[in-house]
Amino acid sequence: MTILLLGKNGQVGQGLQQTLTPIGSVTALARADFDLERPEMITARLEALRPDFIVNAAAYTQVDLAEANVEAAFAVNHLAVEALANYARDHDALLVHYSTDYVFDGKKQTAYLESDETHPLNVYGQSKRAGEIAVERSGCRYLLFRTSWVVSAEGTNFAKTMLRFAAERSSLRIVADQFGAPTSVELIADVTAQAIAAHRQGKFASGTYHLTSGGRTSWHGLARHVVGKAIELGFQSQVKVEDIVPISTEEYPRPAARPRNSSLNTDTLSSSLGLSMPDWTVHVDRVLDQLKEREWKL
Ligand SMILES: NC(=O)c1ccc[n+]([C@@H]2O[C@H](COP(=O)([O-])OP(=O)(O)OC[C@H]3O[C@@H](n4cnc5c(N)ncnc54)[C@H](OP(=O)(O)O)[C@@H]3O)[C@@H](O)[C@H]2O)c1
Repeated sequence: MTILLLGKNGQVGQGLQQTLTPIGSVTALARADFDLERPEMITARLEALRPDFIVNAAAYTQVDLAEANVEAAFAVNHLAVEALANYARDHDALLVHYSTDYVFDGKKQTAYLESDETHPLNVYGQSKRAGEIAVERSGCRYLLFRTSWVVSAEGTNFAKTMLRFAAERSSLRIVADQFGAPTSVELIADVTAQAIAAHRQGKFASGTYHLTSGGRTSWHGLARHVVGKAIELGFQSQVKVEDIVPISTEEYPRPAARPRNSSLNTDTLSSSLGLSMPDWTVHVDRVLDQLKEREWKL
């Protein structure tokens, strides 16, 4: 079995490089090897590589920049994904793809189900939703995982930014009225590998699944947790947990609107694979432990 992994240097891509190896022979490519902003090149590249599985961890992920770079966001998150899905359909390959809580508007009071109506609030969410529709309509076999608030010891993410801010600033003002589940790359990569293996055995159906940690918090709650744990681990911090001030979304205006409720219901995935999603604190703590072990410089 040959696996083509796209986006190998991204947060999720790096985690997948480790967990996909027991499934098949992995060819992992970065943007320089396989540029998704040029969808017209994709089919020819795939014909040459002939993968049995395509795992697409690449995406245009800069949520605020996407507001001004609509064409680039849609090229990578929609048109390229459509080309991957069409190849998968024509060659009976499996497409594994990732999407986001930002396909929803966040107005629902409870956690979103896979079947809930989407209504993205920003260009990034719209481009990711267009990619989802392309996959769903292509007729290929696919595993599409919507995840949220990704954290890892690699790459750039909110948890690492909070560690850096805590070292540099004596107070922090963090949005407290957007809620979601911080989800680690480790969990995403592990579950992806299990899902592919189960799909190969005919035990896990093609479709869209929500893949996040259990529980929920706000960005403010996450910041407090990260700083508290960081102080416990001996990271340098000028800020005390109680100095992290909760603010509203309106007090931190950004180019792209964000959903207030980003919680995704993971019952379908959990019951299909016989898993119980760990609380978000479990994996956030592991990320901080890993950073400490590596003596990560802020
Ligand atoms: N991060 C989150 O909080 C979050 C939340 C929900 C869903 N997701 C989804 O999860 C998936 C993985 O996200 P992530 O956090 O791992 O993102 P990431 O760390 O930003 O990585 C994205 C990867 O895509 C690559 N890429 C960007 N443009 C490309 C292009 N034109 N051609 C080829 N590769 C390109 C990047 O390459 P370079 O390194 O060369 O730029 C990078 O390696 C994405 O589908 C994302 O939408 C993420």
